[in-house]
Amino acid sequence: MGYHDTYKNWQENPEAYWLDQAKTIDWDQAPTQAMFDKGNGLYEWFADAKVNGCYNAVDRHVENGRADQVAIIHDSPITGTQTKITFAELQTRVAAVAGALQANGVTKGDRVIIYMPMVPEALEAMLACARIGAVHSVVFGGFAAHELAVRIDDCTPKAILAASCGLEPNRIVQYKPLLDSAIEQADHKPDFCMILQRDQSPCDLLPGRDLDWHAAQDGVAPADCVPVDGNHPAYILYTSGTTGAPKGVVRHTAGHLVALNWTMKNIYNVDPGDVFWAASDVGWVVGHSYICYGPLIHGNTTIVFEGKPVGTPDAGTFWRIIEEHNVRSFFTAPTAIRAVKREDPDGLEIAKYDISSLRGLYLAGERADPDTVVWAQEKLGVPVYDHWWQTETGFTIAGNPAGLEALPVKIGSPTVPMPGYDVQILDEAGHAQPAGTLGSIAIKLPLPPGTLPTLWNAEDRFRKSYLTTYPGYYETGDAGMIDEDGYLYIMARTDDVINVAGHRLSTGAMEEVLAAHPDVAECAVIGVSDALKGQAPMGFVCLSKGVNRPHSEITAECVQMVRDQIGPVAAFKLTLVVDRLPKTRSGKILRATMVKIADGEAFKMPATIDDPAILDEIKAALQTIGYAKE
Ligand code: COA
Ligand code: AMP
Repeated sequence: MGYHDTYKNWQENPEAYWLDQAKTIDWDQAPTQAMFDKGNGLYEWFADAKVNGCYNAVDRHVENGRADQVAIIHDSPITGTQTKITFAELQTRVAAVAGALQANGVTKGDRVIIYMPMVPEALEAMLACARIGAVHSVVFGGFAAHELAVRIDDCTPKAILAASCGLEPNRIVQYKPLLDSAIEQADHKPDFCMILQRDQSPCDLLPGRDLDWHAAQDGVAPADCVPVDGNHPAYILYTSGTTGAPKGVVRHTAGHLVALNWTMKNIYNVDPGDVFWAASDVGWVVGHSYICYGPLIHGNTTIVFEGKPVGTPDAGTFWRIIEEHNVRSFFTAPTAIRAVKREDPDGLEIAKYDISSLRGLYLAGERADPDTVVWAQEKLGVPVYDHWWQTETGFTIAGNPAGLEALPVKIGSPTVPMPGYDVQILDEAGHAQPAGTLGSIAIKLPLPPGTLPTLWNAEDRFRKSYLTTYPGYYETGDAGMIDEDGYLYIMARTDDVINVAGHRLSTGAMEEVLAAHPDVAECAVIGVSDALKGQAPMGFVCLSKGVNRPHSEITAECVQMVRDQIGPVAAFKLTLVVDRLPKTRSGKILRATMVKIADGEAFKMPATIDDPAILDEIKAALQTIGYAKE
């Protein structure tokens, strides 16, 4: 059955479709019903089933003939090491970590924060939580202590699992001081921390609170898989919203098992036993779905890559890994390919390796610009598939179902909606738009299994963020259009979220940091175009009356504050001091217009602008730093 028939099949009977897909999962108690309508726009999937996520990702493969197959390859060009862990070894290792958690009082439903770099133990920590029904929340290592503290207070973890350090190409990132500072800043305190000491930089452990990763497992009984309800939260993953408070996206266990397993063949076109590689980080949704759970549930080998596309040691790293480990499908962000292309425009590094195992390159996380797609198509000689999704959905909304039926690629489009998603383009009044018309992209409820049922402890915010603008729909926050062939095009965000090197960041969160600077009276942060990272944040600050310190001092402090409060990953490096910000008569800052001016694009004078002259001032300021080119 091809794509169109499969999609129709789902549309005609979603209940039967998903119950059928559920047969690929090993249940402790099989679901009798797929969707549960909780009323008021809330839905759950497979809620009457009992299941264990870790069993499906690990144990069942050991029992079904894959015990000796490599489950995880850790490849770290930064340390120059490689480690291979079979499914049987993974089972032993995960059961030991889970045993240590249990021995220290973690039980089903308790939250556990994981703050770790790209080491296999990060996946083992996630799976150990799943094994005992604890709810993990992985926090990206590039976030600063304050961001970690906010997450500690929101999900109130019983334990935090961390490593002594992470390794960036140019420096060792000491995690322990960040962890200590976060715990100090947070109102909630975890019962204990379990720390993986890395040889590159071990840390001191705090007696009474910190346990050594390995010592904590010594002499402890390995934990068995604990069955949980289908709607038991597998994890909480925080993502950026419009304000400084991140949104805790909840993922229920059963839905994500069913949906992720479906995607591995139908989208990523891998069979059990194949090597699948997502070059992302476990701190992002791509890492959750496609470094950890998806490939392992499906019986694939997954690669944990501790390195960068370039500089570790060169622009050939990706291709070396594909050759050495026989990677069949490779997933990364367009920004990573742009980085490689910039360093190796002629693809000379690619020619050094035999990448004939590769069958497709998958791009997501930000817009895949045509230059990058064409370059990759030509240089790699394999199809390049853009696909569009979000932390909230956990898997592809629109993509090219290469394993089901590879559809013709249209550059600039992530292709078509996947079964489960009824994607519509709506105007401001919520009316569906015809082909070729721009509008807000919304998905008719219910969303499919594996997508967010709510936000952690914030059902009201969930409704306000996603369900109220267009009743009966989930609002994606993206704008775009659908063409005559049903192909979707993603044009822009409709909110203040920006995308920096495939990382989703909130300009609102950065504004909150800048506003706290004692000399700043008012500020705005926008995302300007960046040739490498897609977008880069840029801050505008208006100083309080009477401040007459050098502007360069103040802007340097602003940059440092964002780095300290949000983290280096925000890549906040540009700040301008201006006298006034352009606003509507009702006081709303005209950020979208500022973006257009900075990028040198034509813009329509907003009808509601208070004082158009301010736009000229902004343009002049931008021109002093090489932006707003005519
Ligand atoms: N822990 C601590 N710090 C981190 C970090 C981590 N896990 N990840 C990134 N950082 C830091 C970097 O060291 C850098 O700090 P610096 O300002 O001191 O140099 C900063 O955060 C920005 O990092 P990064 O976004 O990696 O930018 P870069 O300029 O070092 O590299 C790219 C540019 C394009 C190579 C890089 O952004 C990249 O690999 N992008 C792919 C992103 C990706 O896979 N996203 C997945 C989402 S699907
Ligand atoms: P995240 O939740 O971090 O995965 O970010 C999701 C957002 O990234 C989406 O809402 C889009 O704005 C953007 N995005 C992700 N994938 C794509 C894509 N293939 N094309 C365009 N934008 C994308």
